[in-house]
This record gives sequence, structure tokens and C-alpha cells, in this order.
Amino acid sequence: LSSIRVDVGGVQPGTQLTVMWLGKPVFIRRRTEEEITEANEVDVNSLPDPLARNANIDDTAPATDPNRALVQPGDANTEEWLVMMGVCTHLGCVPLGSAGDFGGWFCPCHGSHYDTAGRIRRGPAPENLPVPIAEFADESTIVLG
Ligand code: FES
Repeated sequence: LSSIRVDVGGVQPGTQLTVMWLGKPVFIRRRTEEEITEANEVDVNSLPDPLARNANIDDTAPATDPNRALVQPGDANTEEWLVMMGVCTHLGCVPLGSAGDFGGWFCPCHGSHYDTAGRIRRGPAPENLPVPIAEFADESTIVLG
């Protein structure tokens, strides 16, 4: 009913697609090795929000990079894809991609910096960017909802 299918076949590593879903932007980013490595090097216990905030897994799961990423069937690089609501958890502005002090997203409204896994690292936003219900229908199609 409220599901949409998104063709991600043309998304190159290091770029992202923004689609509208339920009236809100959703970021679908295909991450580089570097972005994934950076995200994995972070100590989860040092994060302002240590929870994964991923609707596809348990509410209490920690904010590790694998717990944030969307697994693509048959893809060796299973943390390549990151799907998140593009809505700042402070007051709802749309963060800018490939920006901020942690190489992820930056919300220009009041200065929240998110990392390459979309986790809040600095600024007033209280939570990581939420990961919606999502899955790969085939190797180049993501279904949201
Ligand atoms: Fe993003 Fe305030 S709405 S920092």
C-alpha cells in the first residue's frame, strides 16, 4: 500500500539518491570503501546515540555500521548501501550529503553533523538518522516500506 520500489542500478559509489516517500525525503547512499571503513572505526559506546535506529532490526540493537547498512543479496560488500530518512532528528530539516565534520551529512539549520553511517556525532540532534523498513527486491531494486 505505502511501499515504493526504487531503481538503484545507476547509483555510483560515493553518491546518493534522494527519493520522496510518505512525503519525506529518503537518502539512498552507495558508500565507498573509505566511508565504510570510517564508520566501522568508531567506538559505538562513544556515540551520542548508541542505538541503531533501524526499523528492520531489534529496537535495542547497537549503532554498529552493519546494523545500519542494508544488505544487498549476493553482494560481497554488504555494508555498501545505507538507506535513511533524510530528516534531521533535531527539528526536521533536510541534511546535506557528503558534508560536515564527519564526512557524512550536515544539517545547516542548527549545525548537526552526522557520520558516514548517518549517526549523530555533534550538534543538537538527539538521534541517529532513522533507517526505514527497506529491503532489496533484486540486485538493483530497493523496496521502501
Ligand atoms: Fe537539524 Fe536543527 S533541524 S540541526
